[in-house]
Amino acid sequence: MSGAIETARTRFERSFGASPDGVAFAPGRVNLIGDHVDYNDGLVLPMPLALGTAVAWKRREDELLDVRASDYGDEVLQFHPGEEPPVQDGWHSLVHGMAHLLQEEGLVGGGLDLLIAGDLPRGSGLSSSASLCIAIGRALLEAAGAMGYSPTRLAQIAQQVEHRFAGVACGIMDQMVVAAGKEGKAMLLDCRSLEWRQVGLPEDWSVIVVQSGVTRELVDGAYNSRRTDCEAAAEALGVASLRDVDPAGVDYSALGETQALRARHVVSEIERTRQAAAAIDDRDLERLGSLLRDAHASMRDLFEASHPQVDAQVDWLNEIIGAQGGARMTGGGFGGSIVLFCEASEADRVVGEIDRDGKPLHGFGEVTIRAHN
Ligand code: GLA
Repeated sequence: MSGAIETARTRFERSFGASPDGVAFAPGRVNLIGDHVDYNDGLVLPMPLALGTAVAWKRREDELLDVRASDYGDEVLQFHPGEEPPVQDGWHSLVHGMAHLLQEEGLVGGGLDLLIAGDLPRGSGLSSSASLCIAIGRALLEAAGAMGYSPTRLAQIAQQVEHRFAGVACGIMDQMVVAAGKEGKAMLLDCRSLEWRQVGLPEDWSVIVVQSGVTRELVDGAYNSRRTDCEAAAEALGVASLRDVDPAGVDYSALGETQALRARHVVSEIERTRQAAAAIDDRDLERLGSLLRDAHASMRDLFEASHPQVDAQVDWLNEIIGAQGGARMTGGGFGGSIVLFCEASEADRVVGEIDRDGKPLHGFGEVTIRAHN
């Protein structure tokens, strides 16, 4: 269990001088494979982490929300959920945006004191913002006695918040896995129909998340422009989205050079995600490893969303893992985290080598997360 829940409770008591009525929690996520395909209606394979965001809450007499963010320098935010949130970077617009959209649905019962505490490394591609949005949403729903609310709908609201109040034209993957994923299982999600199935990982495999140490800052513009490239490519190919492209029959010559690169990444990544889920079902770690290496190369060469330091780290990790497993950058790109698979019996050795040789050689970040075994 994440330590964030206890931290939120203790800090709430310290800040507000009373015990909270409840503590809501939402995890972060790591995407195993399928990046930059969610907003192209494709298939993704993310997995919730044990780390995440906790929100302690207590009803108050008036209609205001008083929010303390213990991880953001103890900042305080007070607002009425009926007010239109400001459009800006940072946690204010996410929290205010969630409250505002849930209020529009009649789901904010009254005023609340709220305290946020999390243990996810930020800026590392592990969905700290989706985790924050869903944790706030769950706290508000608990306070309104609406715990049966649809996780899919909550995910859609959190995505709207990113679009409308944070200026990020993100897909639905992060919010869906954070709201509806099951700890310890990957989620094969169809981002068009929003149907999914849980994918259990073999007990004798490990999934490890390594911080690259390259933080994702000011990359919203690059993210949004990739999305625009993909939409333009779909239009030029005469399809509703790149999901509809037939990998065998497509002719990329109608596209400009950049659009063709982006489209080739998306079309091949959707197919790799399908094959990766099958490789997990078949317990074929060698096959999965080769798909992970291909996925990284595609993000680097076709989608041009990697970073030279991360490329060197991924190459080094693939060498120390060998054929039974593999590594790739995960998430939106331009830095962030790397996900790797290896045999569970090899995990201690791999983590040991990262700590001993990888950090001085390649500048990995401090936190290494064991996401599975
Ligand atoms: C970010 C976005 C997601 C998704 C990934 C890339 O995490 O929030 O919607 O597009 O990047 O796969």
